[in-house]
Amino acid sequence: MVFTEKQSLLPSPGPVVEPPRWRYPWALAVQVLAFVLLIKASFALLDYLDENRYNDGLAVAQCPQVEPLVPVSSSQSLVKMDDYFTTSKFRNETIARMAGAIQIPSESYDDLGPVGEDKRWDTMYDLADYLENTFPLVHSKLKLEKVNTHGLLFTWQGSDEGLSPTVFMAHQDVVPVAESTVNQWTHPPYSGDYDGYYIWGRGSMDCKNNLIGILEAVELLVDAGFKPKRTVILSFGFDEEISGKEGAAKLADVLVDRYGKDGAAVIIDEGAGTTSVWGSTFANPGVGEKGYIDVEIIIRMPGGHSSVPPAHNGIGVMSELITLIEANPYEPHFHSDNPYLSMLHCGAAHSPEFPAKVKKLLPSWKEDSCATKDRLAQEVAREGEYVKYLFTTSVAADVISGGVKNNALPERTRVLVNHRVNVGDHPSDVQSKLTKLATQIAEKYNLTVQAFNDEPETPRSIKLNANVDTLEPAPVSPTSVDTVTPYSVLSGTTRGLYGVEVLMAPGMTTGNTDTRYYWDLTKHIFRFDPGWDSEQEGFDGIHTVDEKLSVIAHIKGVQWYSRFIRNMDEADLS
Ligand SMILES: *[C@@H]1O[C@H](CO)[C@@H](O)[C@H](O)[C@H]1NC(C)=O
Ligand SMILES: *[C@@H]1O[C@H](CO)[C@@H](O)[C@H](O)[C@H]1NC(C)=O
Ligand SMILES: [Zn+2]
Repeated sequence: MVFTEKQSLLPSPGPVVEPPRWRYPWALAVQVLAFVLLIKASFALLDYLDENRYNDGLAVAQCPQVEPLVPVSSSQSLVKMDDYFTTSKFRNETIARMAGAIQIPSESYDDLGPVGEDKRWDTMYDLADYLENTFPLVHSKLKLEKVNTHGLLFTWQGSDEGLSPTVFMAHQDVVPVAESTVNQWTHPPYSGDYDGYYIWGRGSMDCKNNLIGILEAVELLVDAGFKPKRTVILSFGFDEEISGKEGAAKLADVLVDRYGKDGAAVIIDEGAGTTSVWGSTFANPGVGEKGYIDVEIIIRMPGGHSSVPPAHNGIGVMSELITLIEANPYEPHFHSDNPYLSMLHCGAAHSPEFPAKVKKLLPSWKEDSCATKDRLAQEVAREGEYVKYLFTTSVAADVISGGVKNNALPERTRVLVNHRVNVGDHPSDVQSKLTKLATQIAEKYNLTVQAFNDEPETPRSIKLNANVDTLEPAPVSPTSVDTVTPYSVLSGTTRGLYGVEVLMAPGMTTGNTDTRYYWDLTKHIFRFDPGWDSEQEGFDGIHTVDEKLSVIAHIKGVQWYSRFIRNMDEADLS
């Protein structure tokens, strides 16, 4: 700009015949350019300041990382035990023990009859026998109670009655292998084959690795003469894959009866693991779980001969209702204690490759603005379905039936709609929304709506029923590390084992685990697969073909359980 002023001071070469802007066109261009650059620079600066909100102490305070924690009290035999985990002898033995467990096909089926009547439960006897033969010290030193025949409840009594117990969970059952998929497996599903790196088979990751891993750890601690001050409980259900009603539900009842509400210090169950993202590695113990509701919708409309049909019959109207439901999906939304929101804060605070766009939208620690959070949710949801449904209620029509004959109009059409309820929402929100949509259709076709009541179906109606499996989202487990807490012990144990490159952040999965029955036993529930091998991140083959387990991850898992028991024993929990 100074440059153009100087230009204007130049002596005029003669009579002015043209407007100045034509004589010096580049001067105006430079002014405009400079102005644009200034504006741009200002915006860039604002952006920079905005993004770097997170690089100060406050940001890191959103996701504090605890120091590595290793057991302090020791003995010669405990030192020997720690070394033993790293020997090829242990490696060989644990591979054999895992293989043996996988070779027992403890499948659970949706249509299983009562325990004691349906013979298909009997493979659970084989598994219990196998565990008894394989872990003799666990079975001699710990008290074993069989709950509802196949639930295994081990109690390793601690010397200090005043300390509430540490509870480890795992389920003994596995998802069935469909007959038609057997030949798609690289190694047969119940072979337990070891290929030099992986152990193959159904249950190797979900979750006989945890079942065997916990038992390995306890067996070796007993062998090393470890005597816990804090009671250790192992609670192994046997029907997790079909909702846990026979196993976990009954085990939890026994434990809540015995120790009271909030009577346990912590629960560790199967769940999320450790993964690399945004240039960092995060261990993500699951601290929450979505809710669940299946809604049955029944449309009753008059029957009649299909040669003289009305313009819309029950099937048509049901189709319209489903179309309406799909056209009104749930919006992504972060409730303030959503675990994935915490994970985003952790990424913003610690990860070099965390997306700047997302960082900008993260609410700062003081503000709790819904508008910001919804913009954030929409931005993050673009990552894909797996991410989106960590903070969005899902809705899916999964089963439909209607009509009985090709020349008769359908009098009764039924559909089953499955929902996984977002943290912060409730199954009742789903019920209200469906009632509203059903009412819209009902008014159009002069039907009555019977929403979530016990009245019998009427001939011209839309009836909505909630399934008995309805479940609120799980309470979110506390993750404060200001004092010694179960989460801080878990975090310290993990970083002690893997090093400080592994960062801790709250995690969540979109499915449910057996922990749904344990909410009363403790607020500190962590769904965590502690064994990690960077070569095998994610869930290889879970619930499908070629499920397999890295032996490196498995041995790390055993070490983790062993250290966590000792760290909990030493922890001065606030
Ligand atoms: C472990 O197994 C491998 C392969 O079978 C074998 O070569 C090795 O000697 C075994 N190690 C021990 C200590 O038994
Ligand atoms: C709506 O249905 C009721 C019976 O359920 C009937 O009495 C009424 O006439 C119907 N109205 C129309 C507009 O069809
Ligand atoms: Zn499982």
